[in-house]
Amino acid sequence: MEKTFYIETFGCQMNAHDSEKVIGTLINTGYTQVETPEEANYVFYNTCSIRDKAEQKVFHRLQSLKRTGKNKVFAVLGCVAQQEGEKIFERAPHVSLVAGSASYTKLPEMLIQIEAGNRRVTGLSFDNPEAFDTPFTRRDNPYHAYITIIEGCDKNCSYCVVPFTRGPERSRTSESVMEEARRVAGLGYTEIQLLGQNVNSYRDPSSAGWDFATMLDKVGSIPGIRRVRFTTSHPRDFVKPIIDAIDSNPNLCDHVHLPVQSGSSSVLAGMQRLYTRAEYMQRIDWMKNAKRSIAITSDIIVGFPGETERDFQDTLDLLDEVQFDAIFAFKYSQRPNTSALALADHIPEEEKTRRIMIVNERQRAIQIRNNANLVGEVYEVHVEGRHQSLGQWMGRTSQYRTLNFSGRDGEDLLGSYVPVRVTRAGPNSLVGEAVL
Ligand code: 5AD
Ligand code: SF4
Repeated sequence: MEKTFYIETFGCQMNAHDSEKVIGTLINTGYTQVETPEEANYVFYNTCSIRDKAEQKVFHRLQSLKRTGKNKVFAVLGCVAQQEGEKIFERAPHVSLVAGSASYTKLPEMLIQIEAGNRRVTGLSFDNPEAFDTPFTRRDNPYHAYITIIEGCDKNCSYCVVPFTRGPERSRTSESVMEEARRVAGLGYTEIQLLGQNVNSYRDPSSAGWDFATMLDKVGSIPGIRRVRFTTSHPRDFVKPIIDAIDSNPNLCDHVHLPVQSGSSSVLAGMQRLYTRAEYMQRIDWMKNAKRSIAITSDIIVGFPGETERDFQDTLDLLDEVQFDAIFAFKYSQRPNTSALALADHIPEEEKTRRIMIVNERQRAIQIRNNANLVGEVYEVHVEGRHQSLGQWMGRTSQYRTLNFSGRDGEDLLGSYVPVRVTRAGPNSLVGEAVL
């Protein structure tokens, strides 16, 4: 059978980067990537199970392709694969391969088994010491490179499926991270994004013993690297030295994504987040008192079991107090294996919908107000794309704001860093003109 594959990725940046590892591994094994599932003999879905909707999407995809795919091999990778395991074969009998994120270096072996006629192949163990070593990563984005520094999560948030889908925490050695970071810098990348479920709890397993703040500073000091970002953080492990590193190394982006989830200490306790509202606000104070102006973004969950109107008001009040630069709000979704399943007092769907709309409206008003104050300011933009129809370049500031701008005719600015003056501001993006 011709070795052509199609892959579709769902979920977070960790998954996007995992797909880059899978694509590189497959190409190195002699497979060719194609653009549509119809053209492919092997169809891979790299899946997300953070909320029920994300999980359902994959089963819909599998169902809709079932009939067209008589001779195809279907593979489910990622978080749904890890969570559902062999049950996927029952629910979607045309699937032949089910593998979680710690097994991707073993894909060539698993595919040999499939080619030999085996119709039920799994890779679900977390016990793969080579999982980090991905020499064949095929990076999708020419402007910024993802690098995994830690896998898995040892926190036990009561709503969260990730500890089950990505397993216990495993940090990568500092030497291995630095080697990859120098390699991508050598390839011409100027921006690196360090990835992990909880990057703040990074702890170098080698004798160098770096913590996360040290890692940030070292990666930000590699010649050629102009921007370092990181995601995602956990307030409990977000310590002051991280802010000190950002303050002292201008190559570290002035943006922190610090998910709060709720503004109510009693909901935070139910979520087993291991911090109170006051402790979260202390982290916010560190950032607001930094020498640089640090953009802060966050995640919010509404409708966690037992969330009262008063708790919900506490979340709205926290939005006003912090003035986040952006948030991602989600309705609580019940996940398998999680301890919140056992909690009483689930919130009706319509009420969750009401709450998320109020949260989003409140935050939108904050962003409209605060972004208006940016008009007239000049920011350095890393150019990542072009809107042909609008004749505008698209890029991001160090604070991760989207800034679209017009430049001189005939100039190719892709990949470059351009000072841009903001001329207009919307709730989610800015418009400006290159400062020539
Ligand atoms: N329901 C709703 N949102 C969730 N998140 C994680 N688990 C759930 C869940 N069960 C959200 C959190 C997290 C983000 C990645 O997804 O806000 O920070
Ligand atoms: Fe989705 Fe979480 Fe898995 Fe990322 S780690 S793909 S957000 S379930």
